[in-house]
Amino acid sequence: MEKYIVKGGTPLVGEVSIGGAKNAALAIIAAAIMADEPVKIENIPDIKDINVLIDTIAEIGAKVDRIDRHTVRINGGTIKTVVVNNESIKKIRASYYLVGALLGKFSKAQVVLPGGCNIGSRPIDQHLKGFRALGAEVKIEHGMISAMSNGERLIGTNVYFDVNSVGATINVMLAAVTAEGNTVIENAAKEPHVVDVANMLNSMGANIKGAGTDVIRIKGVKKLHGSEYAVVQDQIEAGTFMVAAAVTRGNILVKNVIPKHLEAITAKLLEIGCKIEEYDDSIRVIGAKEFNTTHIKTLPYPGFPTDMQPQMSVALALANGTSTVTESIFENRFKYVDELTRMGADIKVEGNTAIIRGVARYTGAQVNALDLRAGAALVLAGLAADGVTIVEDIVYIQRGYEKFEEKLRNLGATIEIVETDREIKKFKLKVS
Ligand code: UD1
Repeated sequence: MEKYIVKGGTPLVGEVSIGGAKNAALAIIAAAIMADEPVKIENIPDIKDINVLIDTIAEIGAKVDRIDRHTVRINGGTIKTVVVNNESIKKIRASYYLVGALLGKFSKAQVVLPGGCNIGSRPIDQHLKGFRALGAEVKIEHGMISAMSNGERLIGTNVYFDVNSVGATINVMLAAVTAEGNTVIENAAKEPHVVDVANMLNSMGANIKGAGTDVIRIKGVKKLHGSEYAVVQDQIEAGTFMVAAAVTRGNILVKNVIPKHLEAITAKLLEIGCKIEEYDDSIRVIGAKEFNTTHIKTLPYPGFPTDMQPQMSVALALANGTSTVTESIFENRFKYVDELTRMGADIKVEGNTAIIRGVARYTGAQVNALDLRAGAALVLAGLAADGVTIVEDIVYIQRGYEKFEEKLRNLGATIEIVETDREIKKFKLKVS
């Protein structure tokens, strides 16, 4: 099993370029199969979850040309089956987008239930409610979601979501673009990737208005056509490097970002005392010697993103005093706290709030990357720590970050992937 080994204590300095957004790209790849013509997608991140989804759509018959590491051409005109069930797709969350895409295109879909990080119970009732409202009969049996409409097309309708869900908003949008008549989605999620998927579908001939607001209006069209589209930049990858600058007291220019999408993160870094310089498509973060405390509550966009909660907590655990972090999206997102505690953090979790008493420093330890963002957070703590940290199970991190270690090394970090005890010994000798 691959692990990261990190020698902390070096301020990270330099420039890093941010890739395409994982969560947008996953939905966009699913959307691409809805046309019977080639759709070229640029700026896709080269990470495990994306590669699993691409292999899966090829498996059901879509023609897939990998033009380069970040560009793929997909033609859904050759799809042979609407049944999606393989071992690797079971592990990713975004498999659910294949239900929306196949249902929209063929009026039927049968897709294995989604996996993904274990950060809470993660129901999909809102997705199913939306498909049912569009006229599909939906059943969950034998670990599969089966959805089928009686007619040739789904029927446009009004869908009101009881919770603000990125996944459900995008999924119902996918199914509704080719429905007969108009669909209105109320209490829609407003995340940048919802807007990106809507823009992409519109580039394929869909008629979606209002993405990025609470109400999305869709006029159904008969067919989608081929297109070329570049995925938006990943706000969470950007945020992770911004916190890396903060916790290592470094100075990083995070390039290829949309600063507006990062406002919630920027605001909190400013509050704890970092310096931020904003440019058109980049942000410089300069870490402070000492951090102030702050209070964070995760919320749907434009609130503070749950996917940045573990990373930001790593910074707050080094502040002068007590901060609180309240997780309001996923109930099981503080598992990393035990791991951070091994590194010297003083954090107590009460209900959905972490009470974080700042300590002077982390000390290196052997810790476990329990999920994607928790794993990234532990690497950040390792970069800030005295001594050597080993982060186990980095397969979780690799699901969402492309060449994480290489990008960190380019900023001056001492980090390697190791597998054996011999490699660990060699690293320790080298850095001692
Ligand atoms: C997506 C992201 C994930 C991110 C999350 C919130 C992908 C592949 N994953 O996950 O990285 O952390 O958005 O930004 O894009 N809910 C329901 N019923 C539903 C759907 C959701 O109750 O049918 C609840 C969830 O339990 C959660 C909240 O709504 O409390 C938000 O979930 P949602 O936005 O759907 O997250 P995911 O799509 O799972």
